[in-house]
Amino acid sequence: MVNEVSMLKPTTTNPAINPVLTEALTASVNSKTTSLLALLKSASRELSHITFANSFGAEDMVLSDIILKNKLAIEIFSLDTGRLPTETYDLIALVESHYQTKLNVYFPKNGTVEFYVKNNGINAFYESIELRKSCCFMRKVEPLQRALAGKNAWITGMRAAQATTRASLPTREFDDANQLEKFNPLSDWTEQEVWAYIRMHDVPYNKLHEQFYPSIGCAPCTRAIAMGEDVRAGRWWWEDPLNKECGLHVKN
Ligand code: ADX
Ligand code: SF4
Repeated sequence: MVNEVSMLKPTTTNPAINPVLTEALTASVNSKTTSLLALLKSASRELSHITFANSFGAEDMVLSDIILKNKLAIEIFSLDTGRLPTETYDLIALVESHYQTKLNVYFPKNGTVEFYVKNNGINAFYESIELRKSCCFMRKVEPLQRALAGKNAWITGMRAAQATTRASLPTREFDDANQLEKFNPLSDWTEQEVWAYIRMHDVPYNKLHEQFYPSIGCAPCTRAIAMGEDVRAGRWWWEDPLNKECGLHVKN
């Protein structure tokens, strides 16, 4: 499986990350940025203790830039699963120096990971959906629950167009699973608008995006996509697209 992944890795730069900044595109990005900023400001006024889940993907870099440059009263946290790609760690360090900030990073519980690995093996997530989901639970979902404890709301960088599972994604919803408000302020943004924002504001981004990785998670569960493939086709590529979620965004 690992060889399959490296064979799929193209070497040319992905054109999707360099959209032509036409007048119409910049106008649309500027207008959506204004609405997004207004939404985040009113959310942080209405709900104190609000936090943003940052995976350092392109969408999350747009939100990070807006939150940090405008000094919004919104915390930022990230879940380090212990299996992230080197490029993501490089970006975390770059974000801290670029924005002169310190990020809150949550890790899985060491005892749980040691037990899982001893019983199932270091790469057991390839063996069954059950083992994949339990790996996601211990490395992402349980740390997320700790990150959200005591918060009134959280923010994600999800977009409706990313996946069939996200097609009807609202800008604001109640997260039953975690019992707090949830905002998806980029819900109606296109991939092109995300990259236009990044280029217009010179935002740092994950270097894997240059190698056809539009969606980046853990290294062993993420591959590059081919031209024309769905943006999340490289995540858990061996699974059915209708069930491809890690458990961070479930509905009861
Ligand atoms: S995932 O649920 O399948 O991993 P995806 O990578 O598309 O989701 O990310 C969707 C949103 O979930 C991100 O915009 C971010 O808000 C949150 N998220 C995903 N992974 C992490 C992470 N490692 N740390 C913090 N937030 C994350
Ligand atoms: Fe484990 Fe893969 Fe889920 Fe990361 S994405 S937590 S390595 S199963």
